Amino acid sequence: MAEKLPASIRRFVEDYRRVRLHEGYASDDPGYAARLPYVDVTGRNRAVWRLRARHYLVARAVLTLVPGMGRVLDVGAGNGWLARRLAGSHRVTAVDVDAGPTGLGALDDRRVARVCGELESLPFTGGRFDAAVAAASLHYAVDLRRALGELGRVLRAGGLLVVADSPLYADAEARDRAQERTRAYYEAEGAAHLADRYRGLVRAELDEGPFRFFALTPGIGRLGDAIARLRGREGLARMPVLVGRRR
Ligand SMILES: C[S@@+](CC[C@H](N)C(=O)[O-])C[C@H]1O[C@@H](n2cnc3c(N)ncnc32)[C@H](O)[C@@H]1O
Repeated sequence: MAEKLPASIRRFVEDYRRVRLHEGYASDDPGYAARLPYVDVTGRNRAVWRLRARHYLVARAVLTLVPGMGRVLDVGAGNGWLARRLAGSHRVTAVDVDAGPTGLGALDDRRVARVCGELESLPFTGGRFDAAVAAASLHYAVDLRRALGELGRVLRAGGLLVVADSPLYADAEARDRAQERTRAYYEAEGAAHLADRYRGLVRAELDEGPFRFFALTPGIGRLGDAIARLRGREGLARMPVLVGRRR
């Protein structure tokens, strides 16, 4: 798991790890990753993990029911809970910028290949995978177009990209306003720069890339988003599960 990342990413990883531990989205407990997504041993984000477990089952169903999805890339894999869950039925590679104990360092499973690398310049040859899963990770791309291009490159023609647990906004303006709220949040955590790498998704921007997307689940917040906008208020993020077929 070679680690040769630019200083800006090392800074991101360091501060992100600290904030995630503070939020209860990471843990020093060695059982934490092994029991996700069904049990959150921190007990602090149970509702979120209940939803994420459902999304995981949807992603898993796609990768199982669509033929020829044997080679899977878990992109922005974090501690690799999803890679480990899929490893019984698929050949899985996990990639993340965090090779430490809250990231790939927590993934102790010989069935999974661990690779330290960036979404925007994936260290793999073209056509190497049948499918990729981006679970709560695609919105961390600083350059979404480039990240989608890279995912399109490493997937074979007809390969699938499952996007789950990323906030999706109605339009770029709503997303940009949300990013400013995110910046204020991270500023209070002493790491405003983290907001540079947390940018919600917009369907039109996703569709500009090499994938044709379908929504597998509408995502929580759909009704709330519609009502907020009908009342002239700020639209809310949705968290759908999308699947894109590489064109
Ligand atoms: C919210 S976590 C999700 C982790 C895991 N997929 C999960 O479902 O729990 C986002 C992950 O994306 C990783 N990440 C952020 N920016 C990245 C980038 N440019 N390239 C690769 N991974 C990145 C972070 O290190 C982190 O592990």
